[in-house]
Amino acid sequence: MAIFLCFVFLLFSSASAACNQCVLSKASFFGSSKGLSGGACGYGPVAVDFHGGHVAAALHTIYKKGEGCGACFQIRCKNSGVCNTKGTKIVVTDLHTDKSNATDFVLSSRAFRAMALPGKDKQLLSVGIADVEYKRVPCVYKGQNVAIRVEKFSKFPNYLAVTALYQGGQTAILGGDVASVDRPSNWVYLSRNYGAVWDTDSAPSGNLTLRFIINSGFDAQFFYTNEGVLPANWKPGVTYNTSVQITNVALDGCAPCNTWK
Ligand SMILES: *[C@@H]1O[C@H](CO)[C@@H](O)[C@H](O)[C@H]1NC(C)=O
Ligand SMILES: *[C@@H]1O[C@H](CO)[C@@H](O)[C@H](O)[C@H]1NC(C)=O
Ligand SMILES: *[C@@H]1O[C@H](CO)[C@@H](O)[C@H](O)[C@H]1NC(C)=O
Repeated sequence: MAIFLCFVFLLFSSASAACNQCVLSKASFFGSSKGLSGGACGYGPVAVDFHGGHVAAALHTIYKKGEGCGACFQIRCKNSGVCNTKGTKIVVTDLHTDKSNATDFVLSSRAFRAMALPGKDKQLLSVGIADVEYKRVPCVYKGQNVAIRVEKFSKFPNYLAVTALYQGGQTAILGGDVASVDRPSNWVYLSRNYGAVWDTDSAPSGNLTLRFIINSGFDAQFFYTNEGVLPANWKPGVTYNTSVQITNVALDGCAPCNTWK
């Protein structure tokens, strides 16, 4: 019997580590608004629009060299005297480079306070580092499709750097291509510049369509923007709205988190 229980425990704990489901950890918060204005993902100040500024820096195992950018997590703290049971939903916008590995996430103070019971947010902030539980959840941007920002350091017409903003669903962007509407099968490969920024120095001419490789289910598939999402005369610094949104959910093959009520 003891052996059986031990086996079940091992199975559960290894699965939870691999799957980011109901992971027990610690989280702290940014003393400044750094989490909102900067961030290794490269989103910049627009991150304030992501879930009302509920953003976070994540450890490199979640950030995954930028693949984790834009991922959403539900995080709740475990002190029942101070914390509510729902917690807060955050978007990963930054890499957390704490050498001590003491916390998995550093939250914007807004997001951190949102984990508190009514009137207990100051008390929670004074704790500084909270014991938390977290799980991956889909990102939902109501009434907002994916937008493509042409980065300011792009140089028309050849060097194009783009960032996908408001990335819905529970996926990761693994790659990308761009093609001219006139030559739709000539896809030009985009490489990850840093964080969530993708670029090429051989941008095609004409109205442009983008596609991103995203993980979905147990597989990967393309997410296509609408045709000509970038106009032929695209401009650095401008954000172009697409008419599509990502709703795919990547599966990880482990038991769903069922301790989260
Ligand atoms: C933190 O994690 C990194 C990567 O896994 C590891 O190299 C480092 O030794 C860890 N630091 C501590 C203090 O555990
Ligand atoms: C790009 O699309 C616009 C709007 O559909 C169209 O008017 C324009 O001629 C196109 N430009 C090129 C270079 O294909
Ligand atoms: C993109 O959509 C937002 C609202 O979702 C709107 O405020 C903005 O003006 C749009 N941008 C462009 C370039 O059309």
